[in-house]
Amino acid sequence: MTSQSTVLITGASTGIGAIYAQRFARRGHDLVLVARDTTRLEALAASLREETGVAVDILPADLTLPSDLAAVEARLREDAKIEILINNAGAALSGQFIDQSTDDVARLVTLNTTALVRLASAIAPRLAQAGTGAIVNIGSVVGLAPEFGMSVYGATKAFVLFLSQGLSLELTPKGVFVQAVLPAGTRTEIWQRAGIDINTLADLMSVDELVDAALVGFDRRELVTIPPLHDAAHWEALNGARLGLISDLRQAQVAERYQVAP
Ligand SMILES: NC(=O)c1ccc[n+]([C@@H]2O[C@H](COP(=O)([O-])OP(=O)(O)OC[C@H]3O[C@@H](n4cnc5c(N)ncnc54)[C@H](OP(=O)(O)O)[C@@H]3O)[C@@H](O)[C@H]2O)c1
Repeated sequence: MTSQSTVLITGASTGIGAIYAQRFARRGHDLVLVARDTTRLEALAASLREETGVAVDILPADLTLPSDLAAVEARLREDAKIEILINNAGAALSGQFIDQSTDDVARLVTLNTTALVRLASAIAPRLAQAGTGAIVNIGSVVGLAPEFGMSVYGATKAFVLFLSQGLSLELTPKGVFVQAVLPAGTRTEIWQRAGIDINTLADLMSVDELVDAALVGFDRRELVTIPPLHDAAHWEALNGARLGLISDLRQAQVAERYQVAP
């Protein structure tokens, strides 16, 4: 990765994505900004060009629409200057599963998982071939905790974490860095968009602090960055338990507690 590499950021019109855009522009990276709201993308692009002098392209797209998504995939495949993908666009869904419409559930899964993995798939072979670059996937601590009561949203974020861990195993040896960022509640429009009154929530992290922390993890080449987790040993313990579980899986033998008496 060179300081001249271009960064493509999805969900860049506001919130976490917009702050990523600002921070990477200040680091001297050219940008490609993706979201649906062209007016906002244009305004952000103009202000970043003026502030930092970097080149900023906008690529308006609704990532739940196959034709729009295909255009972003094509850009990732073909534009060799893009060496960093920030897979950030996402949404939440309030309420209980039984009250959520099937269409809303499917749209959420499409945006948070299908679009994210298609974009990663579009850029990864080129980065692996070049032996450089990074894919940053924005997950959520909700993906660790079904107890938070956001089952579909959390399931999409569990997908993001698993995918990132798997891709890291495959791509790190090829010179491509993969990072999963797991924010907790952060002060953005995501709540309002999901119909949740932000004033009813306990303290939220500021979006600037969240992205700056995520970039500390990025610069350290950390696979999983959890800015709100204060005791990193908890994550290490969870991961250690998971690895211990793997070593206890014996494919050819039924565990004793399931053995049927002859
Ligand atoms: N804020 C939190 O508390 C929190 C916590 C954990 C994880 N996260 C994750 O962080 C990421 C960013 O969220 P945020 O908090 O910054 O949310 P946000 O302020 O609502 O911003 C979401 C961004 O995604 C874009 N987007 C939404 N639907 C899209 C679609 N169909 N196609 C293309 N772009 C779309 C939006 O732009 P347009 O409307 O212009 O398309 C916007 O730029 C998400 O993946 C979210 O799950 C957030």
